[in-house]
Amino acid sequence: MKIPMLDLAEQYASIKGEVLTELDKVMSSSQFILGSNVKKLEADVAAFSKVEHGIGVANGSDAIHIALEAVGVGAGDEVITTTFTFFATGGAIARANATPVFVDIDPVSYNIDPKLVEAAITDKTKAIIAVHLYGQMADMEALKEIAVKHKIVLIEDAAQAIGAEQNGKIVGELGTAATYSFFPTKNLGAYGDGGMIVTNDDTLAENARIIRVHGSKPKYYHHVLGYNSRLDELQAAVLNVKFPHLKQWTAQRREHASYYTKRLNEKVGAYVTTPIVLEGYYHVFHQYTIRVEKRDELQAYLKEQGVSSMVYYPVPLHLQPVFSNLGYKEGDLPLAEKAAKEALSLPMFPEMKKQQQDYVIAKIEEFYNR
Ligand SMILES: Cc1ncc(COP(=O)(O)O)c(C=O)c1O
Repeated sequence: MKIPMLDLAEQYASIKGEVLTELDKVMSSSQFILGSNVKKLEADVAAFSKVEHGIGVANGSDAIHIALEAVGVGAGDEVITTTFTFFATGGAIARANATPVFVDIDPVSYNIDPKLVEAAITDKTKAIIAVHLYGQMADMEALKEIAVKHKIVLIEDAAQAIGAEQNGKIVGELGTAATYSFFPTKNLGAYGDGGMIVTNDDTLAENARIIRVHGSKPKYYHHVLGYNSRLDELQAAVLNVKFPHLKQWTAQRREHASYYTKRLNEKVGAYVTTPIVLEGYYHVFHQYTIRVEKRDELQAYLKEQGVSSMVYYPVPLHLQPVFSNLGYKEGDLPLAEKAAKEALSLPMFPEMKKQQQDYVIAKIEEFYNR
């Protein structure tokens, strides 16, 4: 058997008729940029996130970068974020000419530790970016308290966590702004790149709308140095077809996660740490990530047996060569460094079959019983 990390072809088959109809409408209308599909998606995703504004942009990386620029982050500012994330989080800070300040994680949730955030605040700190890794929210309640106390901006990098909640508050509700990625593999994925900023802040929203069109308003009158970063109509049309399915697809992911956790704990609980859903949290399981010793050996064995798995992420941002100028060294953020050596994400997608999960579980069991 071959088990992929995810199977987008199967999902496409289930919505193909509707997708092709909507794509045809866009092409027949010849309205490809910032038209009715983008407007509808912006309104729907903003409402889902319980905020006023949605601003569609070219991808999730630009969403973070534009959100930072829209609140005035720039040269001389520090932005605190987790070291255990995809490169885009730190990259967006540096691209905004600010200095990333990386802090360590809570080893249970893999998310940024609010106590360490507070300790890292200086008079240059302009913003915090919380990343909701693998689909579970960072402790936004604690982070919001810190942000309010120090009068700094709090951005949620929710690329992996659309629809996640903490104590009934959904992604988008607690931050100054939240950013989404619609990269094809995301829980709500386009058939190409896409992203969005959602916010209740009118000024931030207005600035972001201007930045995504070369800093112009009206067209050809340029006030700030923006660039071209727009969500296109074809991608928005696909996302409008997919969006009504998101809750159901998330429920399926959660079901598969419960099954993995139950069976893995029964069979290989001595070797494998399954993901922990914190009390009061709604985890959307973008990834199902276990922690194991001998991670690389397990991954190689699974590969031999036809089971895909991924390491998100093998090198924390503070140890990435591109950030060597910041002066971090190995051992500085030990909990993230340990997680980078032990985390392994298993196949996870809404359409996954029990039989496929059983195969993955059996192969992990086989590895430890060899
Ligand atoms: C945590 C995180 N932030 C940002 C991004 C960037 O999103 P995009 O690939 O759409 O630029 C991703 C996904 O790739 C991500 O996982």
